[in-house]
Amino acid sequence: MLEINEDQFKRFQTLIYKHCGIRLDDRKQLLLRTRLQRRLRQISMDDVEKYLGIVTRPDGTDELQSLIDVVTTNETSFFRTQSHFDWFTKVFLPEVHSRRRSFLGNRELRIWSAACSNGAEAYSLSFCLHDHRALINGLKVKIIASDLCVAALDQAKTAKYPQRFVDTLAPSIRRQFFDEIVAAPGASSSAPREYQVRSEFRNQVEWVHHNLMHPLQRPLMDCVFLRNVLIYFDDVSKQTVLTNVVNQILPGGYLVVGPSEGIYGLDNPLTKINTFLYQKNPK
Ligand SMILES: C[S@@+](CC[C@H](N)C(=O)[O-])C[C@H]1O[C@@H](n2cnc3c(N)ncnc32)[C@H](O)[C@@H]1O
Repeated sequence: MLEINEDQFKRFQTLIYKHCGIRLDDRKQLLLRTRLQRRLRQISMDDVEKYLGIVTRPDGTDELQSLIDVVTTNETSFFRTQSHFDWFTKVFLPEVHSRRRSFLGNRELRIWSAACSNGAEAYSLSFCLHDHRALINGLKVKIIASDLCVAALDQAKTAKYPQRFVDTLAPSIRRQFFDEIVAAPGASSSAPREYQVRSEFRNQVEWVHHNLMHPLQRPLMDCVFLRNVLIYFDDVSKQTVLTNVVNQILPGGYLVVGPSEGIYGLDNPLTKINTFLYQKNPK
């Protein structure tokens, strides 16, 4: 296993924290060593000190991005936390439908999957919109999906997922939204299967490489999913991220956070609706 001394660990901690607000506490030493070892193998390097020199150089930003890619945790799934999607389809979309004139005027409906990982969250939203298209009939809808991790975004763009990602979905959903990728001739019949989101759903999402520590340069959103990412930040970074995200929500728009990701104690112009849902106060 790769050795990292205390001083090197502290320098990685500071670098990662400054770049993206993720606080690798001392218990994460093993995680960093395992993931860093993988990256060093990929680039045929075994000198941690030399690697630190590269990622801290002004021209080392490409390798810094690769380091960020290996330290981020991209765990996600389609329709993760079903109750959030139930709210989206049973409360949010009907509200959009009934108030579309005052709510939207002539503009598009905008939804942001912030920290989208490999895209499963954004595609789940796009599937919901399809299933409830009668409620948004005639409306232009835009889903913006962003993440800091380039590797996760690359997967999101190809929309290809291994079998385990679709295993949890009902067969009817799998058939409706995915194509099975035909295995190459000669491939073993026991090789894991792969599925791809159908192209009509891929086209609805705009993918953006974005660090939540900075403001997103896009029009304001009606609804933001910011789930299972605040847990990686300390209170200072959490406040920065929350301010950036809330500034990006229209008055009256909604913020959905992950289970047990309360934003209690943080300064924000939001009203709590329930454990996962907040609404931005009207001006
Ligand atoms: C556990 S995943 C959550 C994915 C999805 N939102 C969900 O709930 O299934 C957390 C994601 O946050 C991203 N992330 C971490 N820090 C970030 C930052 N500063 N800016 C943008 N994305 C970040 C990671 O790259 C990772 O893909």
